[in-house]
Amino acid sequence: MAPELTVIVLAAGGGTRMKSKTAKVLHEVGGRSMIGHVLAAVSELSPQRVVAVVGHQRDQVGPHIQGLLPDAVLAVQESQKGTGHAVRVGLEAVGTTSGTVLVATGDTPLLRGESLRAFVAEHDAAQRAVSILSGRVPDPAGYGRVVRDAQGEVVAIVEEKDASPDQREILEISSGILAFEAGFLASALPRLGNDNAKGEYYLTDTVQLAQADGLTVGAYPLDDVTETEGANDRAQLAELGRKLNQRIVMRWMQDGVSVMDPATTWIDADVVLAPDVTILPGTQLLGATQVGEDAVIGPDATLKDCEIGVGARVVRTQAELAVVGAGATVGPFSYLRPGTRLGEGGKIGAYVETKNAEIGAGSKVPHLSYVGDATIGTGSNIGAGTIFANYDGSRKHRTTIGDGAKTGSNNTFVAPVSIGDGAMTGGGTVVREDVPPGALAVSAGPQRNLEGHAARKRETVGERDLDREVDPGVGSSSPGGAES
Ligand code: UD1
Ligand code: CA
Repeated sequence: MAPELTVIVLAAGGGTRMKSKTAKVLHEVGGRSMIGHVLAAVSELSPQRVVAVVGHQRDQVGPHIQGLLPDAVLAVQESQKGTGHAVRVGLEAVGTTSGTVLVATGDTPLLRGESLRAFVAEHDAAQRAVSILSGRVPDPAGYGRVVRDAQGEVVAIVEEKDASPDQREILEISSGILAFEAGFLASALPRLGNDNAKGEYYLTDTVQLAQADGLTVGAYPLDDVTETEGANDRAQLAELGRKLNQRIVMRWMQDGVSVMDPATTWIDADVVLAPDVTILPGTQLLGATQVGEDAVIGPDATLKDCEIGVGARVVRTQAELAVVGAGATVGPFSYLRPGTRLGEGGKIGAYVETKNAEIGAGSKVPHLSYVGDATIGTGSNIGAGTIFANYDGSRKHRTTIGDGAKTGSNNTFVAPVSIGDGAMTGGGTVVREDVPPGALAVSAGPQRNLEGHAARKRETVGERDLDREVDPGVGSSSPGGAES
């Protein structure tokens, strides 16, 4: 049986170079905070306990961690005296003295659970006091170097600032992620000194202490150590976000999703796509968005926390917390706000904004409309340029439209109001009263035709000025409902 696993996540340091009011580890890539990615990776190991060491901006960081992982223990490091001191604070908070302790940092969003799992498994199998997750990099600047002896055995980690010119040439670096035998760690932490270039208690000095104790130490080189990269500023954050996205897009393509332009396709970590989904250029699938088989998304669509049905088509659309049924079509230039539910085979067309709107199967809102706080049945058609007037200045009200209704162009539904099954409305109708099933509602005044008016006007004001005159009846829209 594997030893008990305790994970200590270090997140007490400041993030000065982010120049942000938001704590560094709370900055997001791929739809999750950096520490959110780390906690997700760590959780894949099913550890017995997770301790997060917080300090800087802990009023933000602490609640965020507890929101993601309610069982996590928070340990407060009042002042940042180094990684060794931080781990001591974390370990003392849970009093662990047996099993394995994995130390990770909160700003490495690319770190994979499977890499951590392999590292810990190797550490446990080798029964070492300390294991270093290491890797070879072309440019080791800024990292602690893994120093090996003539036999290739690990003897120390030397921090860059304390390294000799020879040691600085070493290309094997420590990722800062270490695994320990808990008993050794507990005994080593109080023995750390801070007589070094930074005047800090370095966790990395535990390697030499283990050596001195005659215990085994070793390094586990990761094939792609860039997985352990942290972000210290916004440029690095963007770069990690790009790498993470590349990885996510690649994974979906391997799982049968067509992505026409991976470089302009952004998919958050929690998105779920079915096989044979097609994603066209300029598409962002964010949050907990799910897309069903054969759906085509894009070009230029941003969908956050949406559910898109099998075979649906969503073109040039902004949508959040919306559900689009199987075979339905949305766009181009549609804006779906939270609470939009479009039924199977339905349509939300060009320049249509919807909010809290249930649009039943086969129902269509094809053109230039605002549909707020509405329930529309099945097989109904809403005419072009219709406004669901849901707000009376202080409260929101709902409009209900039945099945098989056909409403005219340029209607206004002054909520609360309802339109019965199979009812119709004329062009330009302002619906203030309920319309019974099967009825036709018209509210526009009777049309007046002033015979010979144009010719008379031409005589008095001249041809040029006639064009500028605004007459009753001239320039008004044609009656009747547009349907498509
Ligand atoms: C550390 C390692 C170095 C490794 C590098 C990888 C040490 C001494 N050095 O250096 O070998 O190559 O990471 O990126 O461990 N933290 C606290 N409390 C503190 C100090 C730090 O919580 O008192 C946290 C920071 O928030 C950060 C992590 O520990 O998440 C690493 O600290 P940092 O100061 O960035 O260490 P590095 O100099 O990068
Ligand atoms: Ca660092």
